[in-house]
Amino acid sequence: MNTTSTTSTDLPVDPVAAATHADPYPYYASLRDGPPLVWNERLRLWVASRAEVVEQVLGAHGALRVRPLSEPVPRAIVGSAAGEVFGHLVRMNEGPAHQAHRPALQRALAGLDLNAVHAAASQVAQRVPAQPLPDMIFSMPLQAVAHLLGFADEMLPQVDRWMRDFVACLSPLSTAEQLQAASAAASELLTRFEALAAGAAPRQGTLLAAVLAESAASAPLSRSLLANLVGLLSQTCDATAGLLGNSLIAVMREPSLRPALRTRDGLQAIVEETARHDPSAQNTRRFVAEPITLAGTPLAVGDTVLVLLASANRDPAFNPDPDVFMLVRAQRRMLGFGHGMHACPGQALACTLAAAGLDALLRRTPDLEAQRARGWHYRPTAARIPVFH
Ligand code: HEM
Repeated sequence: MNTTSTTSTDLPVDPVAAATHADPYPYYASLRDGPPLVWNERLRLWVASRAEVVEQVLGAHGALRVRPLSEPVPRAIVGSAAGEVFGHLVRMNEGPAHQAHRPALQRALAGLDLNAVHAAASQVAQRVPAQPLPDMIFSMPLQAVAHLLGFADEMLPQVDRWMRDFVACLSPLSTAEQLQAASAAASELLTRFEALAAGAAPRQGTLLAAVLAESAASAPLSRSLLANLVGLLSQTCDATAGLLGNSLIAVMREPSLRPALRTRDGLQAIVEETARHDPSAQNTRRFVAEPITLAGTPLAVGDTVLVLLASANRDPAFNPDPDVFMLVRAQRRMLGFGHGMHACPGQALACTLAAAGLDALLRRTPDLEAQRARGWHYRPTAARIPVFH
């Protein structure tokens, strides 16, 4: 058996729980057969499941925001270093605060040489110490991004631990102790980035040097830029661990993929189809700031819309034969990296990191059948991240 508490025959209790269900896809299909926007009384929010509607919601900038008007920073972390970082992230802002750093981050990420990223990520992955598989899927991409940003090799495990502590503050389930650790980690990371950026000239060719060069004209080194450097690590953390873990699951489930494991292009294709077929970012949210009618449904100020990215990827109107895992697709369409002004600028980087990580992981997990038999379940987080048994 490859699941614990849920089996693929139980339906998820709601569209948020679906993200960590053994097989949420039949449930998403039933939602797509319903109204374009449906009210979920249990969660008290609107749910968008069809690709067309997901694109409309994510494109409705201005009226729909990435944070509730009344709570730009989660109450639990307001006033802490974790809250300071959160409050500056482009991911969590609109308007000028979004535009202050988004273009520089986007240009710096777009300028990465993906061959060099792959080589660096493979080297870092080899050096990631032996640890349980569920931890390795976090450490490999996270330490690779820390390396790309310019952290010295001996710092990588420490940056990895801080970041794992920091992302705990993003969960509403975190305990007071976890929130305290998240703030301590945020504080350390801000200080370390400040030293890296302001001390000796940042190592040429690093992502940090690129972000600073792209920012020079528009934004001097500021707390908000430092926070967004921390943000590059936090945006990597859960989502890329999930992509890597879900890619390993695809390989275990589909023996026909095994020949593709021999080449870098094959591994890359597995990761990219996994990002469509079983994405780590299953959903995101939007908060209504101005009255708007979407897909014939009037939304009121204060309403929340849950946007089912993973369901949209499986919409037959978006991708033909959407439930089939196909290495080669004439036109693979994906919403798992978002859409519109907030779309992920790290998509190519994430897929390259996951392909390099998958290669390294497979070398350390030679017996896929035994691993498959031991099974997995999913972490109780917003992202879909397997915990291998
Ligand atoms: C598999 C891995 C990843 C997935 C699935 C993913 C997914 C996403 C999604 C869905 C969004 C938009 C959220 C929304 O609109 O509500 C987003 C935003 C963002 N991502 Fe990623 N991401 C991944 C990896 C990365 C990496 C590696 C980086 C950079 C190192 C990154 C940087 C960002 C940034 C900066 C934003 C905010 C963009 C903005 O608001 O303008 N992501 N990501």
